[in-house]
Amino acid sequence: MPFTANRAFKRAPRMLVAAKDMHYTAADGRQILDGTAGLWCVNAGHCRDSITAAIREQAGVMDYAPPFQMGHPLAFELAQQLARMLPGDIDHIFFGNSGSEAVDTSLKIALAYWQAKGEPQRVRFIGRSRGYHGVGFGGIAVGGIESNRKQFAGQLLPAVDHLPHTHDLARNAYTRGQPQHGAHFAEALEEMVAKHGAHTIAAVIIEPVAGSTGVIIPPKGYLERIRAICDAHGILLIFDEVITGFGRLGSAFGATKFGVVPDMMTVAKGITNAAVPMGAVCVRHAIYDAVVNNSAAGIELFHGYTYSGHPLAAAAGLATLEVYRSEGLFERAASLESFWADAVHSLRGSPNVIDLRNIGLVGAVELEPRPGAPGARGFETFVKCFEAGVLVRSTADTIALSPPLIVERDQITHMFDVLAGVLRNVA
Ligand SMILES: Cc1ncc(COP(=O)(O)O)c(C=O)c1O
Repeated sequence: MPFTANRAFKRAPRMLVAAKDMHYTAADGRQILDGTAGLWCVNAGHCRDSITAAIREQAGVMDYAPPFQMGHPLAFELAQQLARMLPGDIDHIFFGNSGSEAVDTSLKIALAYWQAKGEPQRVRFIGRSRGYHGVGFGGIAVGGIESNRKQFAGQLLPAVDHLPHTHDLARNAYTRGQPQHGAHFAEALEEMVAKHGAHTIAAVIIEPVAGSTGVIIPPKGYLERIRAICDAHGILLIFDEVITGFGRLGSAFGATKFGVVPDMMTVAKGITNAAVPMGAVCVRHAIYDAVVNNSAAGIELFHGYTYSGHPLAAAAGLATLEVYRSEGLFERAASLESFWADAVHSLRGSPNVIDLRNIGLVGAVELEPRPGAPGARGFETFVKCFEAGVLVRSTADTIALSPPLIVERDQITHMFDVLAGVLRNVA
């Protein structure tokens, strides 16, 4: 099992057998309120009828079409619909099956772009400390979660640097929304440019809001400054929007929430409401032009997956975007943001809480680690919440919440009541 203590799990399994809207059904029949949209991905709620129907129908019409040298209309239709939602001139899409694949694809596209532009020496990638970009070799190399790298550290991408993360508990604890302090963390990028030379740097990749590490919200002015430095030196900026995409922040994407347009975006998860695996890289027009239109005749990008643009995923994606649109779910998330923020910050003063953070429909409760046992308090909180019928997520000692965007106010209240009760009982 991925990212799981396998032996401990098998001794005391937590099995889910069904799901509908805001709830899972556990194997023992209990209803579990989904406070995490699965794994940040079921943004429209579970087993939505129109999405299920679209998948079922497509499975009966055409189960699969090879994407190498062949195509099918649904993948192009989904790409076009997605492009219309994207900011700036980001208007071309490359499909894969996961966030990890999207990330590694984006890094490859960055290299292909610089080759096409006649600057093949631009190969260096800059990620960020505590960043999560999936589990491909590219993703763990640019990622900054040390535990995900150390088993594989002998063989990572060689030319990678990491910006400092922006988490500053001393100055920003208990901020609602974007913290005031920390735009200066972006200046580290100038130092890296000075050290290596801009002519060696292909791309910077960051999450607009870092999710998996325990929710780090960008300080005011930080993303703008990163964009400006990239512009000044011609460096590509990639936003990894695998979590922040599709309404999670109360806007279509992190880029639209913060008003900062990257050169590429990686998406996955909410693109199909997680009903069929899919990921995608979305690129600005100039990148497509350089890599595809300015190439010699023949294959332009030697990359792709058997299941790129899979018909079932494309059908699920089209149905999902229609649910987002027709139910106004991104706007709904925005309209709930302040109620959500109040609920998150109601935990101030609960035992062991050292910070509370919120943005869109994302909340984080940071707990003081137990001496000598980092992560234990967070994990126990997660288990006790599950036993009490609420699914939350623990990463180390931060509890993250990110419910489906269809969540009702009384469900938000219930989620935080349960969490508050659990926190009173976790030593
Ligand atoms: C920002 C980010 N990038 C990439 C990934 C990897 O996605 P996947 O697990 O679909 O490979 C994740 C997963 O949580 C993520 O949060």
